Amino acid sequence: MKVEGVVRPPGDKSISHRAVMLAGLARGASELEGLLTGADVKSTARVLRQLGARVSSVREGGNVTVHASRISHPASRLNCGNSGTTARLMLGILAGQRFAATLTGDASLRRRPMRRVTEPLRAMGADIQEKGGDALPLTIRGGRLHALTYTTPVASAQIKSALLLAGLNVAVTIREPYRSRDHTERLFVHLGLGLHERAGAIVYEPSDRSVVPPFRLSIPGDASSAAFLVAAAVLAEGGELVIEHVGVNPTRTGFLVVLERMGVHVERVNLRDEGGEPVADLVARPAALRGTEVSAAEVPTLVDEVPVLAVLASRAAAGSETVFREVGELRVKESNRLELIAANLRAVGVEAEARANDLFVCGTTRRPSGRIETARDHRLAMAFAVLGTLPGADVRLSERASVAISYPRFFADLRHIGKGERGKRKR
Ligand code: S3P
Repeated sequence: MKVEGVVRPPGDKSISHRAVMLAGLARGASELEGLLTGADVKSTARVLRQLGARVSSVREGGNVTVHASRISHPASRLNCGNSGTTARLMLGILAGQRFAATLTGDASLRRRPMRRVTEPLRAMGADIQEKGGDALPLTIRGGRLHALTYTTPVASAQIKSALLLAGLNVAVTIREPYRSRDHTERLFVHLGLGLHERAGAIVYEPSDRSVVPPFRLSIPGDASSAAFLVAAAVLAEGGELVIEHVGVNPTRTGFLVVLERMGVHVERVNLRDEGGEPVADLVARPAALRGTEVSAAEVPTLVDEVPVLAVLASRAAAGSETVFREVGELRVKESNRLELIAANLRAVGVEAEARANDLFVCGTTRRPSGRIETARDHRLAMAFAVLGTLPGADVRLSERASVAISYPRFFADLRHIGKGERGKRKR
């Protein structure tokens, strides 16, 4: 296909969750513009409504208003759907509240590890009852917490954010093996909450009355969703694609750094700041790809882009290898992404293997043909849909509905950029 035109990715999922949660903790009305309308953010909005916040409906193109006073005991279980960010960050919020609540989720979420968050929250004084080991459902009774200094065992923004949200009234110092996405820190600073960095650690020191003020926020487009559009442009036979209003926070744009090493230069134009986050328009064009090595230190900056980068690596010069080091975390995402990326690449005729915690992908010029098991994982569905845009490709996805988790308009946008329609698609 040829690409052309301008496309705007949906609102950033990570920032959308955090914005709704912090607005739910504020006293007063907050206005959120450009919020993601995906199912995961709707889960967060629903959970906050169950806790007593008034969250207007999350609709495409609309602004969302959150009226909050003080969250309180929910009448029923809090269902986080498919969203790990909702579950882990809400555990943090609930750890600081004087009532009990039970969190659960769909079958995929109920398989995901929670002790990485519950252990440090218990160390702060939260009472958390497990029902079936290291997983949801969990019942948490929060209250007055103690200060905590903690080094996370894995670089995970969800752990870090849960502890910062739990600690709104106590001091928290966090170190990470590698720096994970820093949206929570940026929002805290934007809202005037006492956060700073000291000797490589994130330090939060509440003031006497740390109350979240109501706020207005414009949410940038999601870099992780933009990555699929960039990839479609790279694999195209011609043309140029402008992807506008993309968050280019350096803790999220590792995929652009890796693409540069693979021979792809994505231009960033119109660089600006929105709500403490850097935003730009990206210009992407077709390019010849070569293999590369992605280091363990880079992984947190592209953790959600490994599926689409692996797909691109499969189109690198024939025989050239790409290695993703230390991507074991992908086993505990919405699916076992590590095994499924390798198995699905093999299913369409690519040499690929997950060995220990590393992923190896070999470039080929063969036309991809085969069935993809997405395991209802949105990022697998989108990554392999992009592979399916190659001329002559026959890539059949086991389902497409999962894209609604983070990018409801994905297939419409993919058609739109492929038709080379001129003009903007507004959301
Ligand atoms: C997220 C953090 C990442 C990422 C997820 C969203 C967040 O997970 O994979 O899609 O919003 O904090 P980890 O913190 O588990 O790496």
